[in-house]
Amino acid sequence: MSTGRNIPEEVIEAVLLHHDIVDTVSRHVHLTKQGKYLKGLCPFHSEKTPSFTVTPDRQIFHCYGCGAGGNAIKFRMEMEGLSFPEAVKLMAEEAHIPFTDLNGSAAAPHNPELDALLQANEWSAKLYHFLLKNTEHGKQAMDYLKGRGIGDRLIDRFGIGYAPARWDTLVQFLDKRSFDLSAMEKGGLLSAKNDGTGFVDRFRDRVMFPIYNRSGKVIAFAGRILGEGQPKYLNSPESRLFSKSRTLYNLHQSKNEIRKKRQVVIFEGFGDVISAWEAGVHNSVATMGTALTESHAAILKSTCDEAIVCYDGDRAGQSAAMKSIPILEGAGFKVRIALLAEGLDPDEYIRKYGGERFLSQVIEGAVSAVKFKLIYLKKNHILLEEAGKVAYIREAIEVIAPLPSPTEREIYLKELSADLQVSFDSLKQECNQFRHDMQKNRADGDNNANWWNTGRHKKRQSEAPVLLPAYHVAERRLLSFMLQDDEVASYVSEHLGDQFNIKEHAAIAAYLYAYYAQGKTPDVSRFVSSLQDEKLEKVVSSIAVMDTPLEWSVQELDDCIKEIRKVPLKSSIDRKKEEMIAAEKAGDFLTAAQIASEIIALERQ
Ligand code: CTP
Ligand code: MN
Repeated sequence: MSTGRNIPEEVIEAVLLHHDIVDTVSRHVHLTKQGKYLKGLCPFHSEKTPSFTVTPDRQIFHCYGCGAGGNAIKFRMEMEGLSFPEAVKLMAEEAHIPFTDLNGSAAAPHNPELDALLQANEWSAKLYHFLLKNTEHGKQAMDYLKGRGIGDRLIDRFGIGYAPARWDTLVQFLDKRSFDLSAMEKGGLLSAKNDGTGFVDRFRDRVMFPIYNRSGKVIAFAGRILGEGQPKYLNSPESRLFSKSRTLYNLHQSKNEIRKKRQVVIFEGFGDVISAWEAGVHNSVATMGTALTESHAAILKSTCDEAIVCYDGDRAGQSAAMKSIPILEGAGFKVRIALLAEGLDPDEYIRKYGGERFLSQVIEGAVSAVKFKLIYLKKNHILLEEAGKVAYIREAIEVIAPLPSPTEREIYLKELSADLQVSFDSLKQECNQFRHDMQKNRADGDNNANWWNTGRHKKRQSEAPVLLPAYHVAERRLLSFMLQDDEVASYVSEHLGDQFNIKEHAAIAAYLYAYYAQGKTPDVSRFVSSLQDEKLEKVVSSIAVMDTPLEWSVQELDDCIKEIRKVPLKSSIDRKKEEMIAAEKAGDFLTAAQIASEIIALERQ
């Protein structure tokens, strides 16, 4: 969610000027000086030896362990679970920098169309809420909610409302307030009539759940039918305000608690979040009728380290939970899965057994990801039959063998042995064999050696450059010169342009060209805040902490450029060789000879 683009650069610059990186970090991390750097224990992952560095002259931080990095604003975002605009606003206030009235105008150069839609959403939410609580229209919906155990307190907290069974409630309401109705249609509040003569309400006779963004603005609605019927939920369409794959229901209300607990509970449905809230779970979110995405995981990761996945107890829910594990682990989460008996969903469970039991058994009893995988896989096999048993053991070993900790492996193997009445020794032997094969595949030059590894055990993200291929090192080196000197940037722009092989490097170069083109001076910290992209920020910070000398020579730049250009050349030679062999096989020797001469020409280059 990068609404940060709306903040004027002068504010960002002033904020960075007033908030020294060393001061900012020192409030949370004990730093010791080491030459040009300061070092400390990384606050974003647990470690015993310091791999977290702060570079005062570049005003950035970078962790060699987990790859976190960026400027002072980024540090505050990560540390305090803030969005970019939230962090800038807070830091501006702390330094008494006027946030709202720079350049004699309003701070953010607003997008009037989006503003209007936000305004309309907010008013619509208020209208629906009012109609539910105060009018005859809302009576039936009110009864429905009460019947589900959702009383006034929850209705207010979640801003729940009701859209009456009429065609023009919202049309009239928005029209009177002079909103552009066709813009409202695009934003998903209204539908166009088939004959093109006007608009009707999109939501009719539905309980309305406003969807809020992280900072508490209404960006969409989900409307539930009263009772049975299809579709059960009608959602606002994707719009410039609302993207399902990046929105998490309830995050605006739960983010503080998530940060405090360092833990989030993830549900599948609105109803689950609301019931669980009443039961005392205030650190939860729900996806919006879509599978959990990497964006969801990344958004949550900036606020906490542990995720408890609490999906429906039915087959579909468990399978979705299974799919969420690699996504969450890939983002660096410790994952646990809450198990629900009898195919219930969390909301049904709470209504049946009460909130206390939900907390103590379901949430606190959530099992590790490995344990869950074993339970899940087991259900696919008939264990009374030998073949079923053998098949399950094979799958279980695949889950257990890659675990890096021998103790952990042993614990799971023992459980498995007791569970299936198979000797521990034979399981251990199978497991060791699997590990052996795994390592062999790796040694055989499998270029994706970590296929079995979970994100949690991912290798250091910024490994020693010696381990990287030469062109990769050359690209990093070049970028590091470019970050320090605009003259290098213009040289590279002319001689290499965007021809970096690694796509993040190409993107950084492009941003850097644009940055200097605006007449700005080299400044890593400022450049980083112009990026607004987590991944690129990390790459830039990892490059900026490299010990690149300030002096450079054209010879050195040319060497790097040559190394970088070799790669596409080499891959096009490889491609041509394949084409040549194919032509020979097809008996087309003329073409083969022609390709051969092309290859020779390329190789000469
Ligand atoms: N969903 C949706 N559209 C549907 C059905 C479901 O967008 N037609 C989304 C909603 O976000 C819903 C979630 O998927 O909350 C989970 O679906 P489901 O388990 O069917 O709904 P519940 O949350 O259990 O809904 P309720 O308790 O109101 O029946
Ligand atoms: Mn439900």
